[in-house]
Formats: sequence, C-alpha cells, structure tokens
Amino acid sequence: MSTPALEQNRKKAILLIHQGKKLFMGGKTYEIKQQGFLLMKQGCIELNQYSKEEPQEDYKSLAKQKTYQYYCELEQMKQYLLSKVEFAKDQQNIIQDKNLKNQNQIIENQNQRINIDNIIIKEKLNVFWEDIAGLEQAKQSLKEAVILPLQHPNLFQGTLKPWTGILLYGPPGTGKTFLAKACATESHGTTFISVSSADLISKYSGESEKSIKELFQLARSKKPSIIFIDEVDSLASDRESSGSSDNLKGVKNQLLIEFQGIGSNNDQVLILGATNLPWAIDSAIRRRFEQRIYIPLPDYKGRFYLIQNQLRKTPNCLTLDQMKELANKLDGYSGSDINNLIRDASLEQLRILQKATHFKRVQIQNQMKYTVCSASDPQAEKITMKSIEKGQIFVPEILYDDFLAVLPKCKPSVSKGDLEKYEDWTQQFGQKG
Ligand SMILES: Nc1ncnc2c1ncn2[C@@H]1O[C@H](COP(=O)(O)OP(=O)(O)OP(=O)(O)O)[C@@H](O)[C@H]1O
Ligand SMILES: [Mg+2]
Repeated sequence: MSTPALEQNRKKAILLIHQGKKLFMGGKTYEIKQQGFLLMKQGCIELNQYSKEEPQEDYKSLAKQKTYQYYCELEQMKQYLLSKVEFAKDQQNIIQDKNLKNQNQIIENQNQRINIDNIIIKEKLNVFWEDIAGLEQAKQSLKEAVILPLQHPNLFQGTLKPWTGILLYGPPGTGKTFLAKACATESHGTTFISVSSADLISKYSGESEKSIKELFQLARSKKPSIIFIDEVDSLASDRESSGSSDNLKGVKNQLLIEFQGIGSNNDQVLILGATNLPWAIDSAIRRRFEQRIYIPLPDYKGRFYLIQNQLRKTPNCLTLDQMKELANKLDGYSGSDINNLIRDASLEQLRILQKATHFKRVQIQNQMKYTVCSASDPQAEKITMKSIEKGQIFVPEILYDDFLAVLPKCKPSVSKGDLEKYEDWTQQFGQKG
C-alpha cells in the first residue's frame, strides 16, 4: 500500500508537472517557457522516482504510464525550445538555480488555503464539443447535465432532475480533462470552477476541510455552477486504504458532507470528477457520482478524426488514404499519444534542417527562401541553419514518411492489462462513454 510519504511525493511531482506545463503553455517569453520546461522536468524525475518506490501494482503501473506520457510531452517542449533559439548554457544554469528556489516557493504557496481567484475559470478555454473525437455518450451526458437544464429549466421539474455528479474515468490521455474544458467553453452563463487535489490538500491540519467547504459555498453562491475536480481519487480514496493519513480522511469526509448537500442546497451545482483510478474511490463517494462514464482509448473513427483535426492545423502532404492508414496503425494509442506522435512527426523536418549542411535559394510566393539541398546540387551553398536569417528558411510540409520515421519510438502509453481493469470496473460500476 502507498504510504502517506510516498503519496506526498507523488502529489509534489504532479504539482511540479502541472505548474511547469501551465508556465510553458501560457508563457509569453522564451525564458518563461524554459522555466516551465525545467519545472516539468523536475516533476517527471520525481514522478519516475515515485513509480519505482510505489509498492502497489495499480499505482506503480499508472505512474509509469504517466511518467512516459509526460516525458514525451517534455521531449516536445525541448524540441520546441531548441527550434526557437540555441540558448547560451550559462543562462540556462542561472535559470535552473532560480527555478529550484522557485519550486519550493510554488509548493509552499499551493499548500496554503485555496485561492478562490485562481480556481474560477474566467478566460475562454476554446475547446468545443466538435473538437472531441468520439465519446458520444460522455458528450451526451454532459450536455444533459449542463446545457439542457440551463437552456430549458422548465423541462427539469418533478422527478426529472439533472445529473448532479458525473465521474469520467479511463486511461491517461483519453480526453477527460479535455471534455471538462469543452464543458466550460460550452456552458455559457455557468460558473466553472476547476480544482485539482493539489489545490485542496494542505499540509496544515483542518485547512483542507475548510478549503473544500469554501469551494462548495462558492459554487452555491454562483450557481449554476460546475465544480470540476481533476484526479478526484487523490481526495476520495478508499477509506480502508492504509495509505490514507488522518488529514486525507478529514478531506474525504468533508467532501462527502458537501457532496450530499447536508444542510445546504446543491441544486444547479454539478460535480464533475476525473480519474485514472476509479477503483480507488471510496464507495460512498462513488455512489454520489450518479453517472460514471468510461472514457476509453479512441476507436478507428476517433483516431481518424483526431489525425484529420490535428493535421488541419499543420501544413502537410498526407492524402486521405494515408491518414486512414495511419489511423489503422495507431490502434491502442490514446488521444494524447496521437497528438504527441503528430507533434513529433512535425518536428522531423526541423530536425532535417538542423542537421543540414547545404542550402539553396528558391523563390516561394514571391520571396527568396533557403531550402535544404544535397551537396551535389549546382546551386548548393555550404551553410548551416544558424547562419541563415530568421524567416528566410523554408520549412517543408510534413510527409507521411515523417510519421513512419517517428512511429517506432512513439509507443502507446497504455497497456492491454490496464485496459482490462477499466473494462472490468465498467462492467461492475460504469457505463461506456
Ligand atoms: N477524444 C479526444 N478528442 C480530442 N482530443 C483528445 C481526445 N483525447 C485526447 N485528446 C488530446 O489529448 C490531450 C490530453 O487529453 P486530456 O488531458 O484530456 O487527457 P486525460 O484523459 O485528462 O488524461 P489524464 O488521465 O492523464 O489526466 C488533449 O489536450 C487533447 O488534445
Ligand atoms: Mg486529465
């Protein structure tokens, strides 16, 4: 069983990863992006360490998958940074030092009481229902719970009540958080509150319970509202688990009280949870999630939709047949694995540019640009990418061969054994998304 100390390490690692990702995605400057990269890297190292020490097989295998998934993302972040500028080494060292100091500060801050301003999502997330590949049942349930009661409140009277708790569960990278984002985008007029266990769990006794209480008070005062709790298993793990510290037990009980709406009215408050470990959730809390929806790996149609959607945003030479072939080859890949693979393939042409020793000038849309050529080309100039001015390099479109080149190293992150566990749990407690 996981010990509280190990659980703490896992949370710290996840926190670093989330913080890093957020900095990287939202960072306006190269420096901030790099800080995000370094934070995430530290988080990956710590998650990897945790996965080695965790004695319980479920948790161990999941941590391994997640570590792999995050390392793939990290590699792409690295490539992105490398493709932008070659950064001076000493500058990197300065940032790294500064970062290590910042990390402790960030964790310290996260351990303070919940910061209300940070959890209400005000900005547009711009994820729409049509961005989601497949998962029709999940989309339908969410619409029933969120959109319909708002737009047609008169339909929900008497015995017809909207869902108040929905749990999305399944392997990593299948779109659970993505679905929640679509919910936030599409539910105009609803307050969307997004929290993760890291936001709610404080190292100070009693503080986490207060945070949960405040969270629900906030949701009730701003209804209609959705509380999205990512990685809900960390808050609501099985009572009997010897890994639960007293602090966690208090959190779980408080969550149960709030969830049941004892002494308060939870009308028009939807609790949306997401987890990779549905079996780790306490049975009393599980019951409060009236809809438990399995978010599986994408099927052929879903994979094809994802590939087509992603490639629409990137210049490429793939034919429809090649996209179909790719969708066939990617059986067993999660949505996020597929995105990673596409990003990796997109970098292939950049890698070629980085290694190239000969370029020639060509005219592209009335502009002179440099393109890679062989040394024997009569117009070849012996130069490298570094000596060509920014904006003068022609980046070729992605080829189908680029995908074939990266396929052997981009493996699916979810194993067959894990899928069986989700299927079993679905048979017992869930429904297909
Ligand atoms: N069905 C899908 N449709 C569209 N995009 C998807 C889908 N599944 C995954 N993705 C892509 O993969 C990325 C990761 O998905 P997301 O973060 O929602 O996974 P998750 O299920 O929450 O994983 P975890 O359990 O690890 O938190 C998304 O940002 C999205 O781009
Ligand atoms: Mg998620």
